[in-house]
Amino acid sequence: MADGLRKGLTSYGDAGFSLFLRKAFIKAMGYSDDALNRPIVGITNTYSDYNPCHGNVPEIIEAVKRGVMLSGAMPMVFPTISIAESFAHPTSMYLRNLMAMDTEEMIRAQPMDAVVVIGGCDKTLPAQIMAAVSADLPTVVIPVGPMVVGHHKGEVLGACTDCRRLWAKHRAGEIDEVEIEAVNGRLAPSVGTCMVMGTASTMACITEALGLSLPMSATIPAPHAERFRSAEASGRVAAEMAKAKGPKPSELLTASSFKNAQVVLQAIGGSTNGLIHLTAIANRTSHRIDLEAFDKLGREVPVLIDLKPSGEHYMEHFHHAGGLPKLMAQLGDLIDLDAKTITGATLRDVVAGAEDVPGQDAIRPRNNPIKPEGAMAVLHGNLAPRGAVIKHSAASPKLLQHTGRAVVFESVEDMTLRVDDPALDVNADDVLVLRNAGPKGAPGMPEAGYLPIPRKLARGGVKDMVRISDARMSGTAFGTIVLHITPESAVGGPLALVRNGDMIRLDVARRRIDLLVDAAELDKRRAALALPATPDWAKRGYAHLFNETILQADEGCDFDFMRGGGKE
Ligand code: FES
Ligand code: MG
Repeated sequence: MADGLRKGLTSYGDAGFSLFLRKAFIKAMGYSDDALNRPIVGITNTYSDYNPCHGNVPEIIEAVKRGVMLSGAMPMVFPTISIAESFAHPTSMYLRNLMAMDTEEMIRAQPMDAVVVIGGCDKTLPAQIMAAVSADLPTVVIPVGPMVVGHHKGEVLGACTDCRRLWAKHRAGEIDEVEIEAVNGRLAPSVGTCMVMGTASTMACITEALGLSLPMSATIPAPHAERFRSAEASGRVAAEMAKAKGPKPSELLTASSFKNAQVVLQAIGGSTNGLIHLTAIANRTSHRIDLEAFDKLGREVPVLIDLKPSGEHYMEHFHHAGGLPKLMAQLGDLIDLDAKTITGATLRDVVAGAEDVPGQDAIRPRNNPIKPEGAMAVLHGNLAPRGAVIKHSAASPKLLQHTGRAVVFESVEDMTLRVDDPALDVNADDVLVLRNAGPKGAPGMPEAGYLPIPRKLARGGVKDMVRISDARMSGTAFGTIVLHITPESAVGGPLALVRNGDMIRLDVARRRIDLLVDAAELDKRRAALALPATPDWAKRGYAHLFNETILQADEGCDFDFMRGGGKE
């Protein structure tokens, strides 16, 4: 008999009685001894009325249960918290580690031989994988899948690259109230995650590249029948893993699988958030994501996926073009094909099964890339001693080398109040600076790095400016935007020293971001800098834990006491 209900039987000092009691209670649900004596597959339920991205989770769960039972194991569904981008105050990032802790502890607390985690909206897959890595139980990940596209006036559109683009047009006076309301009803036409290469899609692709989910699971649209067949197949795999007691995340997540994930992150034009999450996942193993190595990979790996915001298509087009297996086939020797997956197959087997789709143009060959270099570059300089990130694949080429005058906003609130002020002293060549929007400062590193173009400039036709901050940016955004400046200003990083009118130089080719103020003056400013006192919101509860232990972006924004934990 598999361990099943016996797992964790330590209470009462009498294992026999503990099992007797455990069974007595669970039998209240009507289970038979036959059901209870089978290997148990736990299944997380992150359905929530507040989370439209997870709207298909109940049907996915039904399909997983079917797969588990068809393979002779017993499914047990349990709830964890659910995080939706649009309803997570103050930010979803603030809650990611809470979800990771909740998920890890519930996997540990309850008897199960394997677990299926079902997630998708930006922070949920990272949280679940961080949890799975630390709990190190055989785990199958199921992304909920992307939404299908919307249509407006003959144009294909989707959440939320087009949300920003069309809202910017509305701000500039090109789209009126009536039309923007119509657009509002068309941007998210089904349940599922944002159908551009935002954080959700990025993390689903990374998950598949890490071998933690079934082939094609990153891209199957959320409402498609195929999504539920894949969930059923995932249930079958989880049942086999429960019987075999493996493979565990610690057996799958190797140095090469993390390298594969970074190659894929660059090649898909992935979200900058993906780098933070991958760092957090790696930090729970014996492996590390090295920013220099990631940047170097970026110079070798081309962007091959033609998806918004770097390109033109949407996730369903990527899917119908052959999905991740086809992408990995195109990446060729950039991927280590010996890496193993949950089924026991290698990525070589996965790539061998890739579909050839004549005429498709969503997945490019290496000799005809969307961009010759990867999506992201890591910058250093006197403004970012521990690094900063720019998604240069989604930036304006002419701004990648740029020197301009700093226009400083002290906080997200300050920016909101002043950015549209007609009296704001700003012109198109300036560099917009936002600070106190990092992991600790805001708190939770809001996606405020996509500073809006000041209205008076937007109305004058300005579409992009250099913008820099210690914040994050939605993976769905476009612009010349330097993010994750580390250390953040709230812990005394040099971003705190910038003054209005200082000159800032961005040089992406040289991977530099510098404040053109001499060192003596910066030392003077640093000596006069007063760090903010512990804010009232951080004096109790989860906020206290967060404020005391949150790590910087280069360490994945995990809590300092959560690193490690996975068996190596
Ligand atoms: Fe949930 Fe975009 S809002 S994935
Ligand atoms: Mg997002």
